[in-house]
Amino acid sequence: MSEKTELIQELEALQKKAELELKEIQDAVSLQNWRAAYLSRSSDVMAFFKRLPEAPKEERPKIGQFANQVKTALEKQFEKKEIMIKQAYLDANLKNERLDVTLPGRKPARGRLHIQTLVLREIYRIFAEMGFQVYRSPDVESDENNFELLNIPAHHPARDLWDTFYTTKPGVIMRTHTSPGQVRAMREFSPEPIRVVLPGMCYRYEQIDASHEIQFNQVELLAVGKNITFGDMKGTLEEFTKRMYGEGVRTRMRPSYFPFVEPGAEMDVECFVCAGKGCSVCGGKGWLEILGCGMVHPTVLRNGGYDPEIYSGFAAGLGPERISMLRYRIDDIRNFWGNDVRFLEQF
Ligand code: PHE
Repeated sequence: MSEKTELIQELEALQKKAELELKEIQDAVSLQNWRAAYLSRSSDVMAFFKRLPEAPKEERPKIGQFANQVKTALEKQFEKKEIMIKQAYLDANLKNERLDVTLPGRKPARGRLHIQTLVLREIYRIFAEMGFQVYRSPDVESDENNFELLNIPAHHPARDLWDTFYTTKPGVIMRTHTSPGQVRAMREFSPEPIRVVLPGMCYRYEQIDASHEIQFNQVELLAVGKNITFGDMKGTLEEFTKRMYGEGVRTRMRPSYFPFVEPGAEMDVECFVCAGKGCSVCGGKGWLEILGCGMVHPTVLRNGGYDPEIYSGFAAGLGPERISMLRYRIDDIRNFWGNDVRFLEQF
């Protein structure tokens, strides 16, 4: 049994030291430092290979072999430790970041219909029950349809009732009301009887404020046939307000003027806010105007292809934004087309 050489003893001591240190290591950074100290090219273990010439010749292979064993042993332990640390790291993460599957999920944001789409559909439904069908006509109109054929000739003072957006093309304008649809419908259906609603956006060159917009919807009502009377109109419109606002609603009609009807009228509903007593919303009147109406003027009937000696009709123009404002107590018309979702999400 030969004495252990000095080098081997040194190596054994070094291995012990390395193993003891490794035991204590709990994190990846210290582990890398340990590897640099004991297994890198410049480490103490590797230095032994360079120191082989110090030993007697016959001892060298043995020492070399032993140095290799130490190196391999340390490498194996390093790998084991590395796996352990990684696993511990994973376990800790799993513990801390555990999913709580009982938490309620996040609700995805849902789109919805615009308040005026909803109100328009309700209006169509009510009139559909009374036999009126929707007839669409264009937003961009001729001056002729929007004014002249409705008994409002050029330079007629009544044109001041509608502040108009003109286009660069002479005779082409943005419609100021849905009434030009009356002429279009009559020219298409004459001499058949007509019962239509004409909905859509209208445009007026106006100062915008809480009750005025430069664009807004209207719903025009038109009935043409034989023996249609003012009483039919009154009954139809009163029935509409009942179905829209409820049985108990009170309405009244006042004479008014529109060039394309004769006689003309306006309909008011009792103010919802003050129940007719008078408040700031109704301007102290106790009533709120919701529509203009009247018997179709003979000139307009003729322009539409109906003989006013045989046919008669009534027309009305409703403001759906007005209807919503009354129903939901919206105090500023600018909310409708301002696209603020805080407003839109409420309906
Ligand atoms: N077109 C009219 C307006 O915009 C309303 C109206 C329609 C009045 C039909 C009478 C008949 O003011």
